[in-house]
This record gives sequence, structure tokens and C-alpha cells, in this order.
Amino acid sequence: MATYRIAVLPGDGIGQEVTREAVRVLEAVAKGAGVAFEFEEALVGGAALDATGRPLAPGALELCRQSHAILFGAVGGPKWDDVAHEQRPERGLLALRKELDLYANLRPVTCFPMLVDASPLKRSVVEGTDLMVIRELTGGLYFGEPRGVERFADGGARAINTMVYTSREIERIARTGFEVARRRKKRLASVDKANVLAVSQLWREVVTRVAKAYPDVALEHVLVDNCAMALVHRPTQFDTIVTENTFGDILSDEAAILAGSMGMLPSASLGGSVGLYEPVHGTAPDIAGKGIANPIAAILSAAMLLRYSLSLEKDADRVERAVLRVLEQGHRTADIASSGKGATVGTREMGDLIVRDVEAQY
Ligand code: IPM
Ligand code: MG
Repeated sequence: MATYRIAVLPGDGIGQEVTREAVRVLEAVAKGAGVAFEFEEALVGGAALDATGRPLAPGALELCRQSHAILFGAVGGPKWDDVAHEQRPERGLLALRKELDLYANLRPVTCFPMLVDASPLKRSVVEGTDLMVIRELTGGLYFGEPRGVERFADGGARAINTMVYTSREIERIARTGFEVARRRKKRLASVDKANVLAVSQLWREVVTRVAKAYPDVALEHVLVDNCAMALVHRPTQFDTIVTENTFGDILSDEAAILAGSMGMLPSASLGGSVGLYEPVHGTAPDIAGKGIANPIAAILSAAMLLRYSLSLEKDADRVERAVLRVLEQGHRTADIASSGKGATVGTREMGDLIVRDVEAQY
């Protein structure tokens, strides 16, 4: 029997609750598909900081390296707001991305028909939204040097971050963009701020060069401020979007509103030898521990894990189908409840419903 090692890093807040449900869905897949998953947990984020004094527990990186895939929850929370910058819970996640060379972050944004009314935006705007945000994940402001805060004797200070990209970094994420667009509607929007930033000028130059190898894909360059507006004005004009790290962080949160809730958005971080799968949402400290978080983003992330890291395409389809069907039946967690016909369900119950549907498909 094929056996896959999955590193499970639930992290903080609702990360713990939603990851648990994703694992249960994978267990159902294993039973049905006749494969075995060996789940091994490690601490990351505030949980790791509290237990080990570091935002990534010793051994966690090694565990990830030796696994076939990583299932990640979320990190951070008000409890760690005052810890030193390099110790922040988020550093654990950033270290994983960098060390594992996970430069390509795929964030699909779909407005499922039955959730059209869950979005605060008009039906006429969100209906039909089906786009993929590809975010560069290991460069730009997040990692650029120099960075840091300088404190002066007079009480003043100066802080610096550096937005830096090499042509090689731009080229590889551009290729990802074109490859993904080629398997979708063959339309790629490259988002930058080339009217102001030198980095964006290079970005545009390199993307334009890479485009020559993909004559079948229609490329357009969009300025990031304009893209932010167009996303909530006419999202259906987009198919595949490729952009740098910080722009992608911001635009993907914005795009979540098109899907009805952050609780619906999965992601895959690829590039190195092992992929990392995490919901786009954060730790939601306000609802953590209450059992009401939406586990669908985590469960759809598990589906991406099956598809991209294990090539279990049909099983990924089953999980996605289960999610759709459960939503079609009217089941809603609180975050997407506005259009629900059935009663609101909690995290575990939503997990149960999806698990049962997956089981029934084998
Ligand atoms: C995300 C998150 C992270 C990021 C944080 C938790 C470091 O917002 O994955 O979008 O900024 O990349
Ligand atoms: Mg973000």
C-alpha cells in the first residue's frame, strides 16, 4: 500500500480546529483510496514559541523536509504581539517558506453559486468569479535586506525594508503563472507598480520576455492599485493573476470577499521538493476555541495537497465535490450563513458532513 508521510503543523488559534477536520477528511480519503497517511505533528507559531522558545520547534523543519507534504493551519495572535520581531509566530511560517524554497503560492478564488449571497458584494459583481492568484512567496519586502529598526539617542528612529527581486526570481514565478494560465482560460494578468517602482519595471520586463514562450496565453499588465479596484468591480475579467509577495498578500485577502468568506480560501505553496498547504485565513483569535470556525479552507487545502503533492487527482476531486454538495444541501458555518437555508453548523459538524460525503463516494 502506498504510504505518504504528512507533516501536520496546526499552529495557533483556529488553525488547530480547522486542521483537525482536514486531517479527518484525509483519513477518509485514505480508507477509500487504499493508501496510508502517516501524520506527524510539529509545533509552529505561538504554540512553538511558548513550548520551545522559538517560532518553529526544533526538528519541525527536518520533519517537513522528510515528508511528502505539509498541512499547515495558521500562526499568530494578540498574545504574542509584544515579542521581539525575529521571534514573532509569523517568523516560523516565513522560515518554512524560505528554507523549503516555496516560492509559488497558488490561491484559487471561486464564488460558488450557492454562496453568491454570502458575499457583501452584489450578486451581479461576484457571480461567476473563478480566478487564481499566484503570489511570489520568498522574495520582495518580506525577505529583502537591509531591514530593521534603528533607534537614535534623541528618541527618533528609522525603519527599513527592502523590496528586491532578481530576474531569476521573477522569471520562475512568471513561468508558474503562464503554466497555470495555460491550464485555465489562458489569460494572465501580471500585477505590478511599474509606474513608480524600479522592482516593478524589472518585473514587467522579465514577464514580457517569458511571455514569448507562451504565445497561446494572453498577457496583460495591470497596475496594483487598479487591480485592487477591478477585483471588487469586475472580478470576472480576471482568470490567472501573478504578482509579487506583498501585493499578493493584500490582493488575496481582498479577493476572499468574492468567495464569501476568508474561511473558503485554500492555498498551496510550491517550488521546492515538498509542498505546503494552508488556508489563506489567519488564526481568528476572536472565535478561536469556540468550535465555530469554517474548516472548508483547510479541507480544500487538503484537496490541493492530494492533487499537487500526491497526484491523487480523483481523490482531490472527491473532496471538492463533497464540499460543494454539503454547501448545496444548505449547511453553513457562521461566516457564510447569510444565504444558508439550513441551520448553522460548527467546525466539527461541518467536518463530519464532508467526511461522510467523501466516504460515500468510494
Ligand atoms: C498569509 C499571511 C502571512 C503572510 C502572515 C501570517 C505572515 O498573511 O499567508 O497571507 O503575510 O504571508
Ligand atoms: Mg495574508
